[in-house]
Amino acid sequence: MSFATGKRVVITGANSGIGFETARILAAYGAEVIMVCRSRERGENARQEIIRRDPDADIALYTADLASRDSIASLCRELNRRYSSLHILIHNAGAFFGTPQQTEDKLERSFAVNHLGPYRLTMGLIELLQSGAPARVIMVSSEAHRFFPLDLVDVRRPRRYRGFKAYCNSKLANILFARELARRYSDAGISAVSLHPGFVRTRFGDRSSRRPSAVLFRVAARLFAASPEKGAATPVFLADTEDLTSGMYYVNRKLKKPSPAARSDKLAAELWQLSESLA
Ligand SMILES: NC(=O)c1ccc[n+]([C@@H]2O[C@H](COP(=O)([O-])OP(=O)(O)OC[C@H]3O[C@@H](n4cnc5c(N)ncnc54)[C@H](OP(=O)(O)O)[C@@H]3O)[C@@H](O)[C@H]2O)c1
Repeated sequence: MSFATGKRVVITGANSGIGFETARILAAYGAEVIMVCRSRERGENARQEIIRRDPDADIALYTADLASRDSIASLCRELNRRYSSLHILIHNAGAFFGTPQQTEDKLERSFAVNHLGPYRLTMGLIELLQSGAPARVIMVSSEAHRFFPLDLVDVRRPRRYRGFKAYCNSKLANILFARELARRYSDAGISAVSLHPGFVRTRFGDRSSRRPSAVLFRVAARLFAASPEKGAATPVFLADTEDLTSGMYYVNRKLKKPSPAARSDKLAAELWQLSESLA
């Protein structure tokens, strides 16, 4: 018996890579899994694949585009109508944008998809999480969070866009968000953690780019990256362990100290305020 068995789990980006394997394994552990995918077709193909491998899997599909405020709001309405509690929320969906792009509300797209979308989704489901307490929120971040400091003025609409920096900043935001969520909601029985899944061979990255860095990344991924199943090990562990340290960052199923910026309570509080004002 584990924490996840019999629990209700929402996981974003569950049609591909790490998210697909995490959804599949948690369903095999006996969790009720709710996949959140951007495309109904890709999501349904993935759901059918999980059922094909495990006919007993309890697995539902909902759609949302995490870049869109309206799409997230409509997902939250549907989930709040359909369910009375939620125990585990895994923010796995993430994207890298090699060229500058904005969302419909004029925000830089990496920040919007990788950070603000998860913030909006968590807040939209907070009552379900409170009803499911003890509940947990898991952020799939990255060791890439270490490369740049987070400039909260620049992050929404950068003056000079650099895709890698925008991605790294959004992954730093994941850790700060988990830290602040843990602090604010511990009394409500909600834990929050973040993690790095390892270097994993998935569809991730700028697949169309011919820039040397993008080509090198794709070659390195083919040669050295772990399988998506291995990439799912830490998210699955954090969904399932009885021994979770809320607010912390994990790599390889173990606690790891994140960067000094990711440990700043001041930055975490400021990011929360910014997210609240934008959401
Ligand atoms: N792979 C690695 O080495 C690595 C390392 C560190 C961290 N990570 C993190 O791991 C997470 C999962 O990535 P992955 O490697 O498994 O890549 P992946 O196979 O590309 O999966 C990414 C998932 O996110 C979804 N997604 C992207 N944009 C979305 C949006 N606007 N709304 C909703 N869903 C969206 C994708 O949906 P579509 O199929 O519709 O595009 C897909 O399901 C990401 O957060 C990434 O930052 C990965």
